[in-house]
Amino acid sequence: MRRIADGRVRVDGRVVRNPSFRVELGRARLELDGEPVRERRTSLVIALHKPAGHVTTRVDPGGRPTVYDLIPQLDRFVFPVGRLDRDTRGLLILTDDHRLGQRLTDPLHHVAKTYHAHVAGVPAEDALEVLRRGITLPDDGTPTRPARVRSLGVAKDGGAWLEIVLTEGRNRQVRRMCAAIGHDVRDLVRVAIGSLELGDLPAGEWRRLAPDEVARLG
Ligand code: URA
Repeated sequence: MRRIADGRVRVDGRVVRNPSFRVELGRARLELDGEPVRERRTSLVIALHKPAGHVTTRVDPGGRPTVYDLIPQLDRFVFPVGRLDRDTRGLLILTDDHRLGQRLTDPLHHVAKTYHAHVAGVPAEDALEVLRRGITLPDDGTPTRPARVRSLGVAKDGGAWLEIVLTEGRNRQVRRMCAAIGHDVRDLVRVAIGSLELGDLPAGEWRRLAPDEVARLG
């Protein structure tokens, strides 16, 4: 405050002595004693409820809608943390913070991603146990890590809803795991990343995360 009152601070070249003077960060040129002030920017982290049908890329050569069609032009570029398939719905985080992005996707950090999968038919308990222990994906032979898997109940169409919690993110992993036990996925929703839940954020809507939510992400 004193530095402002002493007239040592300039905004866009003009001395400002009023400590309540509003400055648009990222746009205003700030100087202290004639030296530019580098602002410490807080990360921008947004949660998007991705609907089915949108692809998780910046531009789609096929002209399909992308997740960027759902968020406004922001003052910085945000990238998606991991991907959701075009047909998968649910929680997608976008951020400008590369360190956060790495932490959330690095398998060594074990950040849990929780999915609800509607599968065809009702898997037997021993089939769920196979998924829990980890399975070798038949299409390319990769082993999956142990996962938390539980049944959420039988669906109206005779299929079942499963909750699957992964700490890794292989391409189409939930779909491939379920296909490997003979129960194709009909619908897939990511309902949480770490402790952050999708909650009642409506499909196609986004919101900026508060700093304490970002800190709890994982
Ligand atoms: N697993 C899948 O099969 N698809 C996703 O989009 C995410 C996890």
